[in-house]
Amino acid sequence: MLDDSEGYVTTDGRKIGGVVMEMKNITLRFGGVVAIKDISFDIREGEIRAIIGPNGAGKSSMLNVISGFYVPQEGEVWFRGAKRPPMKPYEVARQGIARTFQNIALFEGMTVLDNVMTGRLTQMSQNIFTQALWKGKAEKEEVENREMAEKIIDFLEIQRIRKTPVSRLPYGLKKRVELARALVAEPKLLLLDEPMAGMNVEEKEDMSRFILDVNDEFGTTIALIEHDMGVVMDLSDRVVVMDYGKKIGDGTPDEVRRNQDVIDAYLGVAHD
Ligand SMILES: Nc1ncnc2c1ncn2[C@@H]1O[C@H](COP(=O)(O)OP(=O)(O)OP(=O)(O)O)[C@@H](O)[C@H]1O
Ligand SMILES: [Mg+2]
Repeated sequence: MLDDSEGYVTTDGRKIGGVVMEMKNITLRFGGVVAIKDISFDIREGEIRAIIGPNGAGKSSMLNVISGFYVPQEGEVWFRGAKRPPMKPYEVARQGIARTFQNIALFEGMTVLDNVMTGRLTQMSQNIFTQALWKGKAEKEEVENREMAEKIIDFLEIQRIRKTPVSRLPYGLKKRVELARALVAEPKLLLLDEPMAGMNVEEKEDMSRFILDVNDEFGTTIALIEHDMGVVMDLSDRVVVMDYGKKIGDGTPDEVRRNQDVIDAYLGVAHD
C-alpha cells in the first residue's frame, strides 16, 4: 500500500509526505517490566497517526520515547532523516515536537492565558541576562509570544475563558487548554495522549474538529493515542496497534479493523 516514499494524496485531498519520524526496533524496560518490545514504525509528514491498544500496552511509553521523556534501552529514533542522540525533553521540544499528557498537566491556579503562554517557553531565545542587555529584543519576543497565544486561543474558541483560572474549568475545556499550550509552540509534530478521554460526545466532536483543523490549517503532523475507535477510524490515516508492549498491527484504519490479531486483542473486547 503506502510504498511511495515521496508521499501520496488522501481520498479527501490532503497531502501526505515522506517519513519524518522513524522508530527502529525500540525496546523500553522499567526494571523487569518490558513496556515496549522491539517495535518499529514510522510517521509521515502531514499525517494523523494513531496508536491504539489495551490498557498497559505501552502506548504512553511510546509517546514518551518520541518526546524524549524516556530513553529506550535499545533501538534508534530517527527524526527528519537523522538519527537522534539521547535528548532531554526540552531539546526534543526545540526540534518542533510538542505534546499533551494523558493526565492533564496544567497550572491549576493560573489563568488560561498564562497557562497557554507557558507553551512559548521553549521558543524563547532570551535568558535573564540577555534580556537585561537587550531589552528591545526581549520586548519584541514578548509581543510575539502574546500574539501567538491569542491566535491559538481564538483558533480553539476559548476567548471567553482566557482570564479564568484553570481550576474552575470543566474537564473538557482543560483538555482544550492543554492543546492550546502545545500549539503555541508551533510544533511540526504534535503528540496527543488520549485527547478525548473522559469527554462527552459533543466535546469529542469539538476536539475531533480541532485536531483535523490543526492538521489541515497548520500542516501539523499528529500522533495520537485514543481508545474511542469511532474517533480513531474517522481521524487517522494510519494506525499502529500495540498489545503487551508488542506491535500487533499497522496500517490504514480499514486494514487494522480487519486484522484478526487486532480483533482478538482489542477490537473484539470491551474497553474504555
Ligand atoms: N515510569 C514507569 N515505571 C514503571 N513502569 C512503568 C512506567 N511507565 C509505564 N510503566 C509500565 O509499562 C507498561 C506500559 O504502560 P503505558 O502507560 O505505556 O501503557 P498504555 O498503553 O499507555 O496504557 P493506558 O491505556 O492505560 O494509558 C505498564 O505495564 C506500566 O505499568
Ligand atoms: Mg497511556
